[in-house]
Amino acid sequence: MARPDPHSVTDDTQPATRHLELDAQVDFATRRLTCTTTLHFRTAAADAGPLDLDTRNLEVTTVTDTAGVALTWEWLAPDAVLGTPLRIHLPKGTTGVRVTSRTAPDASALQWLEPSMTHGGKQPFLFSQCQAIHARSVLPCQDTPARRISYRASLSVPTGLVAVMAAAPVRSEPVGAQTVFHFEMPQAIPPYLLAFAVGDLASKDLSPRSRLWSEPGLLDSAAWEFADVERHLTAAEALFGPYDWERFDLLVMPPSFPYGGMENPRLTFLTPTLLAGDRSMVNVVAHELAHSWTGNLVTNLNAEHFWLNEGFTVFAERRILEALEGPELATLHAALGRNDLDAAITRFTKAGTPELTKLRTHLTGIDPDEAFSVVPYEKGALLLKTLEAAAGRAAFDVVLKSWLQTHRFGAVTTDDFLAHFSKAAPGLLEKVNALRWIDEPGVPDDAPRPTSSRLDAVKALTGTVPSKDETATWTVIEWQLFLEWSPHTLTSAQLTTLDERFHFSSSKNAEVHVAWLLLALHCQHDVVLPAVEAFLNRVGRMKYLKPLYTTLHGRASTRALAARLFEQNRPRLHPIARSVVGGLLAKTT
Ligand code: BES
Ligand code: ZN
Repeated sequence: MARPDPHSVTDDTQPATRHLELDAQVDFATRRLTCTTTLHFRTAAADAGPLDLDTRNLEVTTVTDTAGVALTWEWLAPDAVLGTPLRIHLPKGTTGVRVTSRTAPDASALQWLEPSMTHGGKQPFLFSQCQAIHARSVLPCQDTPARRISYRASLSVPTGLVAVMAAAPVRSEPVGAQTVFHFEMPQAIPPYLLAFAVGDLASKDLSPRSRLWSEPGLLDSAAWEFADVERHLTAAEALFGPYDWERFDLLVMPPSFPYGGMENPRLTFLTPTLLAGDRSMVNVVAHELAHSWTGNLVTNLNAEHFWLNEGFTVFAERRILEALEGPELATLHAALGRNDLDAAITRFTKAGTPELTKLRTHLTGIDPDEAFSVVPYEKGALLLKTLEAAAGRAAFDVVLKSWLQTHRFGAVTTDDFLAHFSKAAPGLLEKVNALRWIDEPGVPDDAPRPTSSRLDAVKALTGTVPSKDETATWTVIEWQLFLEWSPHTLTSAQLTTLDERFHFSSSKNAEVHVAWLLLALHCQHDVVLPAVEAFLNRVGRMKYLKPLYTTLHGRASTRALAARLFEQNRPRLHPIARSVVGGLLAKTT
């Protein structure tokens, strides 16, 4: 027995899934999917033996081979992180299995929304979020990036609602009171990229290969916000090679979507908090687009090498931004990233878990959602920046492209990275002492720091209440930096003047608004508490929930408020956010 992934029961000695067929009935009344899943093997079982599949919280009713002949099966012992493995006993020569199953109403990959939690307020909404290891709560599968699959799927939904998937739409047809939407995904994907949404959805073309999906009431503002998507695609192709996924459609999610974006292939999911009305958050679109190469094409073999997905993607995101907006904006983003990275390293070090600040992690027995942080993102990107600086951009680009080319539609480990870069750029890894970045905690002292006169100008004004003239040219990134760098000793009088002058409390830009709320909370400027409450009642993006709840919980005077707000919002939070915020509030220090 050999397991390539500590987060899956997938076994190297058992048949590998190559293609999946899914037929699912979506029932909003019981909050369940009833699924028939067929897994086709790469090669037929050479001998009789077990097939172990990942599941979590599934009810299984029947298990057969692809011809419908019943197979014997059993549940193996449940594991708190992995779920409950389903073991099917395969006769020699079996080419695939078919399982009928039902999801639990609290399946960790799914959020079922009441109409009141949508923009339109009239129709319910359902969406999936399978990364990192939640696909198994939807259907039984080898839930590891080590097993890529193509798929065909149908979703049967109440007529009037629209189903979309991160796949090519094929057709839809009425069947009784339901409408069945058919999809096909010809490119092989890791199971965490299986994705769908059902709701009151409309669409609008942004370019010949990019369509925007959202609730009807948000379509125009979202189309304006993301109007530049084709320029992003063109810039990314010039940097990283041809786009392999044909379409790059966007889906604006309900506010409870727990992430900023999710790179589901052909259909990126985006938080509505990006609709700032100023196009300032399109770096998230650039990020999810960059995953089309770094992540979706070249995929981490398991969560221990997550930096190969996210570090490469942050690096690629900033290269796209640089190509479109110039090096200065990319540098400002890098400075924000460095702030986040330093704060995370301090946090992990204080918490006694500095090993989670290594790039290569060891996660046996640890839930990837628990280990999640900005470290693989920003430390990974910073290592690549360091390598780029040492090699020179032109030489580095050649290595990067050969990495993407060599491993396209593959799954990679940190050792693959080391082997490829050693061969393609002899001496480069040693020059920056890359192993120290990979296997040691923290950030090496000689890591390059972002520098720009715009950064200096912001730094010079922190701790003061600047005038409108002094800040006339500032972009939202500069405002974020200013708020993050402000000392936590500003007085209420200073904060009141700042807010009167620059309107942070009413900012439509969630990044600026949250940076302001956090600064005010740290300075005990509690007039912002109603605004904090209003924000937490509205938004479910974990990037904002985590620091807001942590800060409220960390102050004796607002600890009870944190608990009350969590209780009040719990039913509306995504299952992942519920468990992450619940964990934060359970901390006693
Ligand atoms: N793939 C991630 C989101 C994710 C990571 C979901 C791990 C589940 C587990 C996505 O690409 C991402 O990184 N989103 C960021 C935005 C980005 C600009 C850093 C986010 O959600 O904030
Ligand atoms: Zn990402």
